[in-house]
Amino acid sequence: MSNSYDQVLYPSKAFQDTHPDRLASVAILHGLQPPTGPCRVLEVGCGDGSNLIPLAVALPGSHFVGIDLAARPIELGQATINRLGLTHVELHSLNILDFPAHLGPFDYILAHGFCSWVPLFVLDAFFSLCQQQLTPNGVVYASYNTYPEGHIRAATRRILRLGDGSVASGKDYLAAIRRRATNPLWQSVLDVELKRLNGRDENVTFHDELGDAYHTFYFADFMERAGAFGLQFLSESKLRPVLKPAFSREELGEADEIAYQQALDLITFEGFRRTLLCRSGLPVDRGNFAQHLPKLSLASPLRFVSRSASGAETFRNDRGAGQVELNHPQLLSILHQLEMVWPQARPLAELLPAEPDPAVLNQILALSAASLVHLRSFELPVAHTASRRPLASPLARLQASSGPVLTTLLHSLVQFEEPSAREYLQLLDGTRHTESLAAGEEVLKAFYRMGLMLA
Ligand SMILES: C[S@@+](CC[C@H](N)C(=O)[O-])C[C@H]1O[C@@H](n2cnc3c(N)ncnc32)[C@H](O)[C@@H]1O
Repeated sequence: MSNSYDQVLYPSKAFQDTHPDRLASVAILHGLQPPTGPCRVLEVGCGDGSNLIPLAVALPGSHFVGIDLAARPIELGQATINRLGLTHVELHSLNILDFPAHLGPFDYILAHGFCSWVPLFVLDAFFSLCQQQLTPNGVVYASYNTYPEGHIRAATRRILRLGDGSVASGKDYLAAIRRRATNPLWQSVLDVELKRLNGRDENVTFHDELGDAYHTFYFADFMERAGAFGLQFLSESKLRPVLKPAFSREELGEADEIAYQQALDLITFEGFRRTLLCRSGLPVDRGNFAQHLPKLSLASPLRFVSRSASGAETFRNDRGAGQVELNHPQLLSILHQLEMVWPQARPLAELLPAEPDPAVLNQILALSAASLVHLRSFELPVAHTASRRPLASPLARLQASSGPVLTTLLHSLVQFEEPSAREYLQLLDGTRHTESLAAGEEVLKAFYRMGLMLA
C-alpha cells in the first residue's frame, strides 16, 4: 500500500486540540459523560504517529490504534514505538476502506488534516467507521477546511497547480501573478497568501495545496454529511470560540445551532474548523457551562506577581505573554493553590466552596477561553516537584537525542535549541540522584513546569 505520503514525508506533530482530555472536557461542559479514565483511541490518517504516540505516553492505561494508507510513515512510527517499548499503541498501514471491525470499538476517534484531503467517498467511509465503532458516549474529532476563507485558498491552490507540479514552480507562478496583478484587493490577497506559503514547510504545501484530493466545506454542509451517519455537532475543540464566541446565538437571532455556527463562520471569515461530533440523540446541553464546570479539574500556570492596596492581584502567564489582574477572593485562593502544583490539576469540586459564587465560575471560564488556566478531565502523569531520581518523559528524551522540538506530557511542543539542555534532559532517566545531576536546579525546575517530568 502506498500513496504520495510515502514519496514526500509529511512533517507531523502533536495537536493539543485532539487530546482525549480536551475532547472529554468539552463534552462534559456540554453535559455529556464521556470516559475520563482508561479508554480506547483511534487516529485515522495518523502519519508517523507524531500525535498518537505522545498521547500513549501520557495515558499509559489506555489503548491506541493508528491507521494510515502510507506505509513509510507507519514504519517510522513503529520504530519509535519499539524504541520506547510501548505495548498499548498499535499502528497499521491500512486503507480506512478496509478497516477490520475487530480493532474497535473506540471512545475517541481522531482525524486531523484528513477530512479535507481525501476523496468524498473516503470521508463518508470515515463517518461510517465512526457510526460503527464509536462507543455510546464517545467523541469524534474532525478538522477540515471551511468557507468563506476557503474560497481564497481554493484560488491559491488553482494557481499553484498551474506550475509544473513542484511547490517551487507553483510559488513562482503565484508570485508572477502577484507582480502583474492590477486589482488592489487581489494584490493584498495574493500578498497574504504568498507570505503564508513562504513561511511554511514545502512538504506541507506539497500535500496540503497540490494534492489531488482537496475539499472545502460550508460548516452546515459538513454537518449534513456527518448527520447522515448518525453523528451530531457537539462543539469546536478549541475553547475560545466555544466560551467566548464573536457573537451569541441571541445576538445573531439564529433559530438553531447549525445556522448559528454557520453564520459565525461567515462573520469571522473562518478557514479551518476543529469540530467535535457525538452520536445523534445524545442530549447536548449548550450554554450551561458554569453549571457543568465543577465536574472538571483545573490547572493553572499563572504565577503571582504582586498585590495592590485594594487587594487586587496581578498574575503572570508562565506559558506565554501577558499578565492578568484579578480580585475575587475565592478565585485568588484557587489560583494560589494551583500555582503550587502546576502542571498538575486539582478537581474544581475540591477547590470551590460548597456554594461557589457564579462570578467565580464565569471568571474561570473566561480565563480558560484565554488559555490562562487549563480545564482537565483526565489525570495526567506529570510531576510538579523534583523527585530524588528525576524521570523525564521517555518520548521527550528520545526526541532530545535528535532535534530541538520536544513533546511534553501535556501534549504541547517546546523547543530547546541549546544542545546542553537537551543532553541534560537525556540524563533524567530515573537512575540518577538529583545531587549527581550537576547542571543547575533552574533547568530542572523549568522541565517540571513545562510538563516534561513524569510523576
Ligand atoms: C494531510 S495528512 C495528515 C497527517 C496527520 N494527521 C497530520 O495532521 O499531521 C493526511 C493523511 O491521511 C492519510 N490517508 C489518506 N487517505 C487515506 C485512507 N484512505 N486511509 C487511511 N489513511 C489515509 C495519508 O496517507 C496522510 O498520512
